Amino acid sequence: MKHVVVTGGCGFIGSNFVRQQLAEYPDRQIINLDLLTYAGNPLNLKDVADSPRYSFHRVDICDRPAVDAVLEDLPGDETAVVHFAAESHVDRSIADSGPFIRTNIVGTQVLLDACRHSGVSRFVQVSTDEVYGSLGDEGWFVEDTPLDPSSPYSASKAAADMLVQSYCRTFDFPGMITRCSNNYGPYQFPEKLIPLFISRALDHERLPVYGTGKNVRDWIHVTDHCRGIDAVLASGQPGRVYNFGGAAEVQNLELTKLLLQLLDRPESLIQFVADRPGHDHRYAIDFSRARTELDWSPQVTFEQGLRETIDWYRSHQDWIDGIRSGEYRNWIDRQYGERLEPDTAS
Ligand code: NAD
Ligand code: TYD
Repeated sequence: MKHVVVTGGCGFIGSNFVRQQLAEYPDRQIINLDLLTYAGNPLNLKDVADSPRYSFHRVDICDRPAVDAVLEDLPGDETAVVHFAAESHVDRSIADSGPFIRTNIVGTQVLLDACRHSGVSRFVQVSTDEVYGSLGDEGWFVEDTPLDPSSPYSASKAAADMLVQSYCRTFDFPGMITRCSNNYGPYQFPEKLIPLFISRALDHERLPVYGTGKNVRDWIHVTDHCRGIDAVLASGQPGRVYNFGGAAEVQNLELTKLLLQLLDRPESLIQFVADRPGHDHRYAIDFSRARTELDWSPQVTFEQGLRETIDWYRSHQDWIDGIRSGEYRNWIDRQYGERLEPDTAS
């Protein structure tokens, strides 16, 4: 594959994927389409921006002529598309689902039509285990688990997955779907649990744990997820779904205590706040299909990945400071506002 078009390449996972592709495939051109919403940060790719094998287009995936203009310059039979662009934060989807319906559903439909028209050879829809809904204390999601989304975010991702599936069946479209558990690692926007808590704890700010903190998430390092997407791009079967997970299930409260310990901060920073509405109890992934069909398994252990992630945030204070102003400050005030007690340092 000579050309890989990445949507949402300035976000967390997309930027890690772009960097990985440029490093692993010296003959590949990477074309990044990103609208640069609040979550898209060109600094995430500052180190590769000047590469002759990388190009960036500020494009809204809902804008068909703009997407066509990029794709029409590329040979369909040598072009693959990896679709990351999305509104991605559950709490924001609860506050306002409009942008989620627009980008995640309409944007995916527009992109699919543009890709069909230009005849791309492969299309990977980067989805989430959240489309399966919530597990009890036992069991795992498999690829055939019925879709049962709880939040507007996961509902919009489930709709997008179904559109991809329908294009595969109806138009023989070469689409594949990946469903992954919670990612963590460098360049994650500090609204999600791990980077939010690391950045706040570094500043001696309170950590808002929803409900009892007993909810369980499975954590995967972003580089393992990117290797999984790359494996699907290389040898996934059109029409097929692939689950990816980190084999690292942890309760939120346990994770928060571990973060505080690694950051050398007191547990008194923990503050329990009102639960998220519709909060899924537990996610856990059976990734045996990826293991047997793609020879994939996660390589980064959770504790090692967490230590490296903390080091990354510690050494990228400028990156955090650049984000923690303006729109970000407004979001934190709206979302947590008076629920949080004053910082311990103030
Ligand atoms: P992110 O919020 O960090 O990045 C999203 C990117 O998409 C940003 O660069 C943003 O500017 C861009 N974007 C948003 N709307 C756009 C539009 N209309 N047109 C073009 N670009 C647009 O998200 P992320 O955490 O990197 O997630 C990437 C993908 O992976 C998403 O599809 C998400 O559903 C999926 N996913 C995420 C996780 C996770 O734990 N973060 C887990 C599984 C799957
Ligand atoms: P999050 O990072 O938003 O990912 P997702 O909702 O996609 O799983 O949240 C991870 C878990 O952490 C989830 O159970 C909600 C919880 N959480 C908190 O307890 N406090 C917070 O401030 C945030 C953002 C999340």
